[in-house]
Formats: sequence, structure tokens, C-alpha cells
Amino acid sequence: MESKKYTLQSIATGNKFEDKGWTLDAPNEEQATLIRAIYDKKQIEVGDLSEGLYRFEDWLPIDRRLKGSYAPITYKSEGLAKELGLSNLYITFSGYWPEKGIKMSTCSFKETESYSVGARLDPQEKKVLVVASAGNTARAFAKVCSDNNIPLLLCVPEDNLSALWFDEPIKDNVKLIVAESGGDYFDAIHLSNLACEMDEYFPEGGAKNVARRDGMATTTLSAVTHIGKIPDYYFQAVGSGTGAIAAWEANLRLIEDGRFGDNKMKLMISQNSPFTPIHDAWYANSRAILPMDDDIARKQVEDITAKVLSNRKPPYPIIGGLFDAMKDAGGEVLLATNDELAAAGDLFLKAEGNDIHPASAVAVATLVNAAKDNSIDKDALIMLNITGGGEERFKSEHELFYLKPKLVFPLNPDKELVFEKLKNLFL
Ligand SMILES: Cc1ncc(COP(=O)(O)O)c(C=O)c1O
Repeated sequence: MESKKYTLQSIATGNKFEDKGWTLDAPNEEQATLIRAIYDKKQIEVGDLSEGLYRFEDWLPIDRRLKGSYAPITYKSEGLAKELGLSNLYITFSGYWPEKGIKMSTCSFKETESYSVGARLDPQEKKVLVVASAGNTARAFAKVCSDNNIPLLLCVPEDNLSALWFDEPIKDNVKLIVAESGGDYFDAIHLSNLACEMDEYFPEGGAKNVARRDGMATTTLSAVTHIGKIPDYYFQAVGSGTGAIAAWEANLRLIEDGRFGDNKMKLMISQNSPFTPIHDAWYANSRAILPMDDDIARKQVEDITAKVLSNRKPPYPIIGGLFDAMKDAGGEVLLATNDELAAAGDLFLKAEGNDIHPASAVAVATLVNAAKDNSIDKDALIMLNITGGGEERFKSEHELFYLKPKLVFPLNPDKELVFEKLKNLFL
């Protein structure tokens, strides 16, 4: 095997090892831990904007490029900054905003992870990649895999099919299976786990996949290389928190780079109340997510507008995960209500000129509150990660095509039935 431009490292033990192609865990280790890519190149050389996401290739665990990507863009805010009285507010935007030179057609930063994960994959791989998701992740992976001919089995709850809109029909190498109506994200995950017990399929890995995290880290790389300095604060709405872990890891690499300062951005992460498991664990100083009553949690998820922020098992406790990131960098878990996020979305549209995803509006709402109650210095250097936007506009400007399921499975399906149906799906 040709040698790679990075090695992998266990966060728990510091052990280093080679990437066997799709290594997700530290070999022969007892404790659950994230692993991290340690790049040979310590000073990043950023490519041209026209290279899309791959302008940050030095710090992506890949050795090929896929077509059609955009990198997140960063600019200094005027409108919102003025509204909030902030002198150093930078907005990092992922989504659709042609005037700013970015046209992510699935309209969220989930494209950063799918272009990175897809490019980590060996083009000769015979097994099929499996991804379970309820929304933006599914859309991003479907598009990237369709455009680049990567076989993909997508597992989604049937009730979320409306999230699977595209500006072009998705090709047949992407196959959608669903957990029937009434099921949720966990039923989709269950299906994906069953598929991955089969020889024909393998899991994408979520937060454990270094390509996913380092793809999302490009938001921070965009901000810091544009500004020339590591910010004081990082604002982002979290579901799993993978984006915030990625931002922290990028921060550590940028300190090592030596040209951007040696501070750690305070991680000002946010959730949509009343669904607040990360908030609750953080303020209880607990590495474990506090026990949740299933019915209450389901009801809370029904109540929140920013549905993508509804992960009940975030990579928070795992070594090298969100709890460790927050302990190391410092930060807070802030909350926004549905009303606050609606007002923040309107404010962003008025002040900056684009619609934003409800999840991004959660981050904006918490920034508004922090500015109002003076909990951050008005001259602090702030990165606001607008993780999704331009969706309303994109939909109004394009004809939309919906991906249809190949198979619908009952909730709690018989394992043998799933095996039988999936066995020849890609033949
Ligand atoms: C637009 C948007 N913002 C934020 C998030 C939260 O990201 P993470 O799960 O990495 O915390 C998501 C997750 O799907 C998202 O789609």
C-alpha cells in the first residue's frame, strides 16, 4: 500500500498507527476513543477557491478529489455586526449564496463531510457505503455519491422523505431504504446497523470517521486562513457536536502551524430548547449524557423547529469527543427557543441578505443574546458558523426532484428479512 500523508492516533493512549483504508477505531484498545489524523504537513498551504473543498486538502485524510465541491466561505459581517454592536464578527457560510461564490446545492456544511468522506474511499472498494440520517447528511451524501459514482445505501425514516430533494435526479448507484412511517432516526440507524452486519456493506462511521471531522473542520480553516488569526469565540448550533469537535481539532492544528496565534476558541455551542441533552450534561459536569425518558425526549424533538439538532446519543462522552473538547477549549452550551430562532433567522435575512437554516438561526439567536447581555466583549474576534443557508432561495430557483425509496421496512424488522432484501440490492 502506498504510504499516506498522515498517520492515525488514538486520543486515549497516544498510540499511532497506519490507516488501513477505513480505520475507524484504535486497534487493540479497550477504551472507547476517537482517533485523529496527524498530518505530515504542519503548515497548511491553502489552494485556490476554484479547488472547492480540496483547497484544504493538506489537512484532509484523502488522496483523490471528487467533482463538484465548494469550500465554506468566510467574510467580515457588516449588517449583523452593526445590529449587535460587534466590531469583529466573521461569518463562515456553507450553503447556497452565488453572490458570495458558494453554490452548495444541498445547502449545508454536511457537504464538507461528504466530499471528504467520499474522497477517503478507495475507488476500487467493492463493498457499499452505508449512511443513516434524517436530513441534511442524507441529502449531501446522496448528491456527492450520485455525482461521483460511489455506491451508497442510504437509510432514512420514511417520515423524513421530504428532506430528500435535489436539483437533479439521483443516480441508481444511490439506493434509499426507509423505516416505515412512525419510525424515527433510531429506526433508520437500526436498519443501517443490520446492513453493516452483512459482508456487502460497511458503515460510514459518523464522528469516528476522521474524514468526516476533518471535512467539517474546513469551516474553521476557512475562517482562520481568511482572518489570519484564531478567533476568540466559535458559535455553532450542535446536534451531535461533531462540527464543534472538528473546529477544536482544527484549532489545535492551527496552533501547531504557528502563524495564527496560540489561543483556543471558546466553543459557544447551542441547542434548540426544550431538547437540550448536551446542555444538561455539560452543566451537570457529567461526561455521560444524563438518562432521558424516551417519551419525553420524543416529545421534545417534536417540539423543536431545528430538527437536525435532535441527536440523543452525541459523541460527547467518548475520549476526544465533545466533553473533552469543551473542557480543553472552554466554552458554554447556550439555548435558543423556537421564537428566538425564528427572530434570529429574520434578522440574518434582513441584515446579511440570505435565508438560513433553522439550526444556523439557533447559533445566531445565542449570539444575539450574548451580545445583548454583554457576556462577550464587543471587540472580541468571533466566528459565527452558519452551517446551512440559502435553502429557501435555492428551492425557489430550481426544479426539484425527490429520491424515492427502493424498500420500505417495518419498524423492528425481522433480521433475516432485511438480509434477504439487501443481499442483491446492488447486483
Ligand atoms: C444545518 C446544520 N447545522 C448544524 C448541525 C449540527 O451538526 P452536528 O451534528 O455536527 O452537531 C446540522 C446537523 O445535521 C445541520 O444540518
